[in-house]
Amino acid sequence: MIILDSGRVIDPANRIDGTRTVLIDGDHIREVREQPATPAEKLVHHVIDCRGRWVLPGLVDLHVHLREPGEEGKETIATGARAAVAGGVTTVVAMPNTKPVCDSAAVARFVAARGREAGFARVIPAGAITRGSLGEQLADMAELKEAGCACVTDDGRPVMSAGVMRRALEYARDLDLPVMVHAEDLTLSAGGAMNEGPVATRLGLSGVPAAAEVAMVQRDLLLAETVGSRLHVAHVSAKGSVRAIREAKARGVRVTAEAAPHHFTLTDDAVAGVLPTSAAGQPAGEPYDTHAKMSPPLRAESDRQAIIAGLSDGTIEAIATDHAPHGALDKQVEFVHAPNGVIGLETSLALTLALVRAGELPLGRAVERLTVGPARCFDLPYGTLAAGAPADVVVVDAEKEWKVDPQRFYSRSRNSPFSGWTLRGKAVRTFVAGKLVHEEGK
Ligand code: DOR
Ligand code: ZN
Repeated sequence: MIILDSGRVIDPANRIDGTRTVLIDGDHIREVREQPATPAEKLVHHVIDCRGRWVLPGLVDLHVHLREPGEEGKETIATGARAAVAGGVTTVVAMPNTKPVCDSAAVARFVAARGREAGFARVIPAGAITRGSLGEQLADMAELKEAGCACVTDDGRPVMSAGVMRRALEYARDLDLPVMVHAEDLTLSAGGAMNEGPVATRLGLSGVPAAAEVAMVQRDLLLAETVGSRLHVAHVSAKGSVRAIREAKARGVRVTAEAAPHHFTLTDDAVAGVLPTSAAGQPAGEPYDTHAKMSPPLRAESDRQAIIAGLSDGTIEAIATDHAPHGALDKQVEFVHAPNGVIGLETSLALTLALVRAGELPLGRAVERLTVGPARCFDLPYGTLAAGAPADVVVVDAEKEWKVDPQRFYSRSRNSPFSGWTLRGKAVRTFVAGKLVHEEGK
């Protein structure tokens, strides 16, 4: 048995925040108790002194691009799963926009098997909504579910046809599969490289209006409501989306949502090399830095505040990174030509804790949004330290200050907008199914 002795256990699923001792028996949690490890236990078991540390359920990240199969130079399932556990993330849902697209059981089984072989974070495939994610013919969702997919999504692009989306929601409803949507009306976003607004105007870049997202969120909420299916809104970036989701929830629509650390930490000012006042003291970037380019784009301060309010009141139940690795050369081009996306697995915990320190989100809420919140979106049995649950646990040094150096990331890519930032809080030990898979500094 492994005994995590006397840490501050924060386990929102079981309403625990206090000094506790966690007993790990094989691959599952045996017990969380108030009594510290006894001298007798210290003789026979592996007791780890967790005084001064936090002990949390392993983090669950619903939105991760692992690039395998097809673009292994950017990331592989193994390097991504290794990066995950370094960030305290013990479960990742792997987006299907690989080459080939994960629209068949064969690819889904391959992803799951590679994840198991790697032996770091749990890797759960997401299947495509449509074949090749082309938005035309539905993928075989029954086969995808059978192969272990936790949801279906055409992430990276929207399903533009409302008719196709309606059929997809009906099919997914009968399989009880959540449909994750990348909400973007391409007729509104076309040609845009960043958020539409004063910063884009000043920089001379064409904009993606918030309405490109909000209109699609509204459409999909309406369809999900009509069909009675489960909708999951990926990477919410706009205030109007938060409001639409909040209102839909209030009238009983089966909708869940996630937000990414870059969207609650940065604004579109970052494209001009300017940080929000909440990030005072961090090194400002360069104007036109392509590490500030992603889809959906960084928005205005009012959007950032709305996302935080949504995380706080439960409109948004999950923090998900949208970890999107790209090669250094791919990003070293003119802003308009750069690919969308930033990596996030190794910074999400510390950026979330920064929100807590800024007084913007209570700690218990923050941990919930990283653990059981996302787990429940897709009915995953993780994100909890309940007796009998899988022993996915992270020991955190909440005070550890560290400087973000993407060269030292386990991820194969370095495209982080937080390079050079000083953050506080790091996973020092990560367990998956009772196995130590990451130890800081080892
Ligand atoms: O920024 C993004 N990058 N947004 C997406 O929707 C796709 C992702 C990627 O695959 O690079
Ligand atoms: Zn997306």
